[in-house]
Amino acid sequence: MSSFQLVKQSLEGAGQDHVLQFWLELSEEDRDVFLQELVKLDLKGLKDHCEGAAKAAASKSSILDLDMDPVPPEFMGSVRKSDTKSLTAWEDEGFLQISKNRVGTLLLAGGQGTRLGVQYPKGMYKVGLPSGKTLYQIQAERLCKVQELADSKHGSKCTIPWYIMTSEFTLAPTGKFFEENNYFGLESSDVIMFEQRMIPAVSFDGKVILQGKGKIAMAPDGNGGLYQALLDNNVLVDMKNRGVEYLHVYCVDNILVKMADPVFIGFCVTKGADCGAKVVEKSHPAEPVGVVCRVQGVPQVVEYSEIPLEMAELRGPGGELVYSAGNICNHFFTRTFLQDVSEKFQDQLKQHIAIKKVPFVDAHGNEVRPSQPNGIKMEKFVFDVFPFSRNFVMFEAVREDEFSPLKNADGASTDSPTTARNSLFAQHGRWATSAGAMLLDHHGNQIPPSASDDCPPAQCEISPLLSYFGEGLEFLKGRRLVTPFILDENTAESLRTQQH
Ligand code: UTP
Repeated sequence: MSSFQLVKQSLEGAGQDHVLQFWLELSEEDRDVFLQELVKLDLKGLKDHCEGAAKAAASKSSILDLDMDPVPPEFMGSVRKSDTKSLTAWEDEGFLQISKNRVGTLLLAGGQGTRLGVQYPKGMYKVGLPSGKTLYQIQAERLCKVQELADSKHGSKCTIPWYIMTSEFTLAPTGKFFEENNYFGLESSDVIMFEQRMIPAVSFDGKVILQGKGKIAMAPDGNGGLYQALLDNNVLVDMKNRGVEYLHVYCVDNILVKMADPVFIGFCVTKGADCGAKVVEKSHPAEPVGVVCRVQGVPQVVEYSEIPLEMAELRGPGGELVYSAGNICNHFFTRTFLQDVSEKFQDQLKQHIAIKKVPFVDAHGNEVRPSQPNGIKMEKFVFDVFPFSRNFVMFEAVREDEFSPLKNADGASTDSPTTARNSLFAQHGRWATSAGAMLLDHHGNQIPPSASDDCPPAQCEISPLLSYFGEGLEFLKGRRLVTPFILDENTAESLRTQQH
């Protein structure tokens, strides 16, 4: 039987024969391309996928009656609550592991960034910093710097490989962008890009959506597609060959991400954890973030829509929220844990549904951009492996220092280019002032680093190549810095040589 016949038969068996409704109208060339795409589909699983998606979308998401408790304090570390001695010891441990080439980072960059609404990968987005840097560049430079810090602490030359998970949408432009920018000073062989799988979007009545006459609407399978992608692309083998035992996994959109954070890594390693989550305190009970907690004693992230209000609002004796651990998609995994979940447990990962507007062709072959959501995308989430952890830990970071995601286009009140840019300015302003500098406006008046309700923070941008997390800025002591101020290698050099 020809491959066309086989595909046709499988589609019919899955109740999806409409996929070939325009076949006779396609050119020879388009048929070849389409057939190749169809052959790559998991045709056996297609029926279950479509039926499952339609069923899940039809069932209302409900508040769960959960047997929840917070992660016990003995499995927690915290920038604010742990003592300085412990924090220093964890940081030392982290730097030691980094210097021994045992640490890698992994960026989840396969998303489509629909809310931001740009046609290129989110990592290539410039939030409007005076330097014009993109998210990818900021991350690359932080990685260079943390390697350099580990080198100078331990007198050796280390490498933190940077694994970047992309999708069909983001792989080519991301690869090109890194090449054009000489990998921002990193060795190209230490930046390893790989692709996650794509799965068909499905209509509410369980039919694969045709985006064109010879094209299925496909979407990446969620950031939990990581586990399949690690196997598909031999990433765990690469980690093993390099001697990498610990991985820091994070999202592309957090402008304050502390790449390969030595404190977090050192904490997880010291506690003998196989899996860890960095969290920030929820800003208010209704903040729409998932909460890291335990359900029937098992660690997991409970989505904000699933938590009963009285649980979300529950407060402890000191008035603090009991379920306050906001998930920020910033995780620690050992290589062996990843091996285990990828090989044994990934079929058990929950499927989440996202209802989206998916462009489609109607019965007459006209392309339609729907104004209302019409399709279901099924996604796995990276944190859904937490229940398989045997020693799960949690580390609470300070939001202003480590979390400010870019999700929405400007105009939105939260998580926009403006809020991301201002978070970075405020942080860098705090670093400069605690090093002893004074920030001035262009009239020479002193301005505080942090924003107030009616005044955005002073524009102070410090290159990650000069400071990873506020260290090494002693030469700013007593300086009067007129903002907008960019501290890069040139301005630093001239400040260092200049008399006060
Ligand atoms: P989001 O859930 O914020 O999705 O992803 P997104 O695609 O960036 O944005 P929207 O929802 O379309 O507006 C959180 C992180 O997970 C990655 C994203 O790139 C981001 O770093 N991600 C998401 C993947 O790597 N693969 C996916 O399939 C989905």
